Amino acid sequence: MPDIDLATPDLATPDLATPELEPAGARPVPASRPGSSHTPTIDQDDPGTAGTGRADATGSPSSAPLLRIEGLGVSFLERGGIGRTRVLDGIELTVRPGEIVGIVGETGSGKTTLARAIAGLTPADRGQVRLDGEDILGLRTRARRRFRRGGAIQFVFQDPLRSLDPELTIGASIAEGMAIAGVGSRSERAERVAGALTLVGLDPAVAQRRPAQISGGQRQRASIARAVVADPRLLLCDEPVSALDASNRNHILILLDELRRRLSVGIVVISHDLSSLAGIADRVVVLYRGRVVEDGPIADVFAAPRHPYTALLIASAPDIHGRNRQAAAALRPAPAPGIPDPTTTTAATATTATTASTAAAGPTPGPRPDARDVGGCVFAHRCPFATVDCDTAPPRVEAPGRPAGSWISACHHDRTWRARLPAAGTAAADTSAVRKETSL
Ligand SMILES: Nc1ncnc2c1ncn2[C@@H]1O[C@H](COP(=O)(O)OP(=O)(O)OP(=O)(O)O)[C@@H](O)[C@H]1O
Ligand code: SF4
Ligand SMILES: [Mg+2]
Repeated sequence: MPDIDLATPDLATPDLATPELEPAGARPVPASRPGSSHTPTIDQDDPGTAGTGRADATGSPSSAPLLRIEGLGVSFLERGGIGRTRVLDGIELTVRPGEIVGIVGETGSGKTTLARAIAGLTPADRGQVRLDGEDILGLRTRARRRFRRGGAIQFVFQDPLRSLDPELTIGASIAEGMAIAGVGSRSERAERVAGALTLVGLDPAVAQRRPAQISGGQRQRASIARAVVADPRLLLCDEPVSALDASNRNHILILLDELRRRLSVGIVVISHDLSSLAGIADRVVVLYRGRVVEDGPIADVFAAPRHPYTALLIASAPDIHGRNRQAAAALRPAPAPGIPDPTTTTAATATTATTASTAAAGPTPGPRPDARDVGGCVFAHRCPFATVDCDTAPPRVEAPGRPAGSWISACHHDRTWRARLPAAGTAAADTSAVRKETSL
């Protein structure tokens, strides 16, 4: 194997080495990917408002949906095989070509299950998933196999070794899907592998190495090369940067931003790290206990969250500051004397605590007994603004003055909860706009 220095892969593709994300509206001319059948359709005059932005100034749809999810539900058989636990319920989600949609939510909220259900890896028991208008959940055996082999949806995992076989060379791993599907001759596949490696900022000589012979950042690039070589329409990235150090994390985020522009691929990025998403995503979808509680343009949501849970998430993220950011304490229920704070106790003790505090609270807004299983708001047991209305499912409330579907929040008191905040809480962060304190 030639001894090539692969330690500075970013230099192979100078525009991927840029340490700062470009301002919206200063995008490079998109280049076609070798072997791609798609024509890049990046609108360089689109100024964008969020992340590096593909949504327009009102957050209105700028093109037909690539992915449209309606009423998606997933449940798992409970241990012992009796009964089912609902993990996702009534999920609505849209991704447009070239758009990056971030999905956030605490552990166990259903982010990975959602991505797996979109890809057909976890069966959904309700709803529809349409890719370019085609109902992909409705595909029968042979059509489904053909669809999967077509590679229109690709996964990028937190651990690149989930997609790169340690026994195979990087080149063989990247070409594997094409080889199985009988795409091209061996030399054509090698050419596409080299093109994909170049696209992700790696030297094509990496193809000869095994995963253990390259760095963690290079491995994640290689796993992205494996995903994009299939000419996907949609990339599902599950915590793609959380195992990387800060420098590699930024490079991978910049790479994803480049790829959506060059390939016009839709990208879903699942992340715990709100500040990473603030750098690249156009929209953010907030999941809580298997429900979408807020979905809107990321800059708007981070600046002025409309759902109390989103506000709590943002208040708890030290790197995100918006003009309506509240102190986290103001967004948590005040525990009754002698009763533990439900946000810091186990589920079992929290239920007891919230039930007791509700009884103590009387008509004053405050946490309600957990009513998820009977259709109440999934956040009611933690919400300081809950009322008896919250015992029924909140509607999807549109943001005033915004195009339908562009910014929704699932809260009965969407327009009034902020007024109930204690004055001290509202002054917690005196900033005029969303500000990122990341190294992006
Ligand atoms: N195959 C399965 N069988 C039963 N329950 C499952 C299965 N997969 C996931 N779950 C449950 O579904 C819920 C959502 O899991 P999921 O992995 O989607 O969460 P997540 O939001 O990705 O969490 P994290 O941030 O920790 O990755 C969890 O309660 C989990 O235990
Ligand atoms: S619907 Fe009620 S419980 Fe749910 S977030 Fe809104 S105010 Fe809180
Ligand atoms: Mg997960």
